[in-house]
Amino acid sequence: MGCVHADYEGKPVIGIINTWSDMNPCHSHLRERAEDVKRGVWQAGGFPVEMPAMTLGETFQKPTTMLYRNFLAMETEELLRSYPIDGCVLLGGCDKTTPALLMGAISMNVPTIYASAGPMLRGNWRGQLLGSGADVMKYWAERRAGTIDQRAWAEIEEGIARSAGTCMTMGTASTMTSAAEALGFTLPGATSIPAVDANHAKMANLSGRRIVEMVWEDLKPSDILNEASFKNAIATVLALGGSTNAVIHMIALAGRAGIKLTIDDFDSLSKITPVLANVRPTGRYLMEDFYYAGGLSALLKMLSPHLDLSCVTVTGKTVGENINNAEVHNADVIRNIENPLFPSGGLVILRGNLAPNGAVIKAPAAEPRLLKHGGPAIIFDSYDEMNKRIDAPDLKADENSVLVLRNAGPKGAPGMPEWGNLPIPQKLLKAGVRDMLRISDARMSGTNYGACVLHVSPESFVGGPLALLREGDIVELDVPRQQVNMQVSDEEIARRRASWRPKQDSYPRGYGKLYMQHIKQADEGCDFDFLEGISPIREPEIH
Ligand code: FES
Repeated sequence: MGCVHADYEGKPVIGIINTWSDMNPCHSHLRERAEDVKRGVWQAGGFPVEMPAMTLGETFQKPTTMLYRNFLAMETEELLRSYPIDGCVLLGGCDKTTPALLMGAISMNVPTIYASAGPMLRGNWRGQLLGSGADVMKYWAERRAGTIDQRAWAEIEEGIARSAGTCMTMGTASTMTSAAEALGFTLPGATSIPAVDANHAKMANLSGRRIVEMVWEDLKPSDILNEASFKNAIATVLALGGSTNAVIHMIALAGRAGIKLTIDDFDSLSKITPVLANVRPTGRYLMEDFYYAGGLSALLKMLSPHLDLSCVTVTGKTVGENINNAEVHNADVIRNIENPLFPSGGLVILRGNLAPNGAVIKAPAAEPRLLKHGGPAIIFDSYDEMNKRIDAPDLKADENSVLVLRNAGPKGAPGMPEWGNLPIPQKLLKAGVRDMLRISDARMSGTNYGACVLHVSPESFVGGPLALLREGDIVELDVPRQQVNMQVSDEEIARRRASWRPKQDSYPRGYGKLYMQHIKQADEGCDFDFLEGISPIREPEIH
């Protein structure tokens, strides 16, 4: 490697866990950022080593990145355990990479800074702003309705991802990187900086400098994380109008820190936390605008009455000290609590005879008429079946029908893919319908919108009540009462349960088999049961 003793002797060894890959466009700048981190580490008197880890690229990975979140978490933990690493800088950002890298680092409990990839630049089509994901779905519906032509669709494809970086709506990527910042894992304001802004390279450099100090201070994840820091992160997700995926990831992250978080924590905080970020898909602007308006530091300042400002962060200072000088530069993008986008209810937890262990809906992203709605179920037992039938002219659907997808949960799909935003049938699109009530045990991309009840638990594959629903049964959603029910009597449900038979899982060996044996349900965070908790693992022997 060309290093001399003086390069490393007596210096903290800093592992830079890098999820760069040609298969992940969101991370295409992370090799350069690793060099920026190294520059900072050298300057602060540390010895940097870059360690590649599996990327989880939303755009290409089959069947879904969520199948591999725990794989990357295990890889991160074991990289940090099996090599002589004193502290680490994590480079990720595309949706699942954030929770995965942090879950591994929390379990290993070495000093850790997260330097996230940052959002890409705003999309542009014929002078109009384009937002990742949200506008793909919006214009794909228009393409299917026949209101835009193939040339326009091709131009949209060319204009929607203009730079390196993660989706620039408040999708799962920006939701989770912001949650990481609110938990205390990043330098202040780090997660809002666009990926290709010069300040992003500076942030990486500063993260490299700071991690060396953190090693000498022995400032570890266990010194940062507690119940209050997780509640700060949940309040932040809610104030951002963030992704429903955060519910699963935050529960899993807390489980690694030995903290019991439940969907009811989201429920109680959702009732009192205002939505302050006017960012798509809930609001109007994009992440670049959010950064220029002051970024997450400014939002946290506005949210201060809802936060525990005494929580410690990677700076060694408290949240309150970090945001002391933050300012809002555009009061329409980052609202204050007197003028919120929504007074509360960014995410709503539902229960009922269809989801005894819970489900979630992002209520502000749905057409209001559907928040209290009942209609007959149209059921698809697989994604392929849905694809085959959804545009069939004889599909008996109108705007009041309820589209149901099952076998799309953690075990059923497997991997709980982002299939929960079921497409509107083409004949209804042509008639002007743009939202319908949809219910599934799947997840939904944080960039998507619509009246989608997600994460139904227990999932249908393991015999949850969704498996017992029949075509034509009336399904009712009542968001104000937080209920999702089928109008089927308890006796009839019991009769159907008696005749229900489980499906076989399809993995004879390999990681898939391990996954099927140990994955937990959505309301429990979808971690592997053997990875949770803080039981100490002994340091590997060195001979
Ligand atoms: Fe990577 Fe959206 S595809 S963040």
